[in-house]
Amino acid sequence: MLQAMITAEVGDDIMGEDPTVNRLERSVADMFGHEAAVFACSGTQSNQMGVRVHCLPGDELLINETGHISNFEGGAAAALSGVTVRTIVAADGLLDVDVLEGKIRVNDQHYSRTRLVCLENTTNLGGGHVYSLDHLQRVSDWATTNGLKRHLDGARLFNAIVAGGYSAADIGKCFDTISICFSKGLGCPMGSILVGSRDDIARARRIRKLFGGALRQSGIVAAAAIYALENNVARLKDDHANASQLATGLASIQGIRIDVERVKSNLVFFEIEAGLGLAIQLAGALKEQGVLIGPMGGQRMRAVTHLDVTTANIAKTIEVIRHCIGQGFADRPLVGSGPYSK
Ligand SMILES: Cc1ncc(COP(=O)(O)O)c(C=O)c1O
Repeated sequence: MLQAMITAEVGDDIMGEDPTVNRLERSVADMFGHEAAVFACSGTQSNQMGVRVHCLPGDELLINETGHISNFEGGAAAALSGVTVRTIVAADGLLDVDVLEGKIRVNDQHYSRTRLVCLENTTNLGGGHVYSLDHLQRVSDWATTNGLKRHLDGARLFNAIVAGGYSAADIGKCFDTISICFSKGLGCPMGSILVGSRDDIARARRIRKLFGGALRQSGIVAAAAIYALENNVARLKDDHANASQLATGLASIQGIRIDVERVKSNLVFFEIEAGLGLAIQLAGALKEQGVLIGPMGGQRMRAVTHLDVTTANIAKTIEVIRHCIGQGFADRPLVGSGPYSK
C-alpha cells in the first residue's frame, strides 16, 4: 500500500485533475452501479455530505438510536445542516418497515419535514450485524413509496458484502447515496467516498468544499484506497473468522458473557460480570499487556478484528483476558479514553 502511495500519479483534485482520485471515484461508482462518486476525508464527512445533499434546514432524518450519524458525529447533522435526527429503537442497530411505519410526520407547518432514512451496514454500536439483501430491499421500497431519500452509512460495507454474500451492485440499487470507509477494516490511513447520482454528487462536491474537505494532491491517499479495494476485501473473511474464534474463546472464560452466535462480522461485543469490575478497568489492565479493547460503558466491551490482528494474536488475547480476569481488576483506577470510557 505504501508503495502504491509513493508512486501515485497526482494532480490538483479540487480542479478535477488528480488522475488517481478520478480513477478511484469512477471505479467505486461503477462497482455500486451509480453515476458518480466523490472522495472524502473521513466517514463522518461523507455521511454528513449525504445528509446535506438530501436535507434542508428544518428537515428530519430517521435512524436507529445506535446510529453513528446520530451518536458519534458531534451533532453534525444539526450543527452543519440544521437537520433534526429522529432516533428509532430497534434491535441490533437494524431498522425495518414495522418500526419505521408511523414515523413519517404529517405535512403540516408544525412539524419538521421527514426527508431521509439512514441505515448502517454493518451496524457498529448495534453489534456488527449485517442486513440481508431482502431486508435492505424492503426498507428501500418502503422509503421510496413514502417519498423518502435513502442513505447508507457503509463505514464497514465491505465487511457486510463479504459476510452477506451479496454484491456491491445489489446494495447500490437500494440507496440514493452510500458512504464507504477505506480506513477501518480496509487498512488505509484515511479516506472515504460517497456514491450517488451525478446531480447528488455534484452537490456533494460543493458541500465537501464547504465542510473543508476539498483536497489538492489527494491521489496519494486515493492510491491506498485503490490498493485496498484490490487486495484487502476478500481477506475480510479472515477477520470474521478471527472474530468468531475470539468469541468462542471468550465464552470459555468465567466472568464473561457473550452470545457467540451473535458475532456476525469483525466486531465482538461482550460483557463482564458486574461483581468483577468495570469495562474501563479491564481495558486498562489489558492495555498494559498490549491488548487494546474498547470499554463501551458499564460492563460492555467491544473488540475489533482487522488486518493487523493475526489468528495467533487472537489466541494470545484470549489468554491475556483470562489472566487479567483471574488476577482481578476491580481496584484499578477509572481512567481511560474514548466516548464510552465512563
Ligand atoms: C458506522 C460508522 N460510520 C461512520 C464512521 C465515521 O468514520 P470516521 O471515523 O472516518 O469519521 C464510523 C467510525 O467508526 C462508523 O463506525
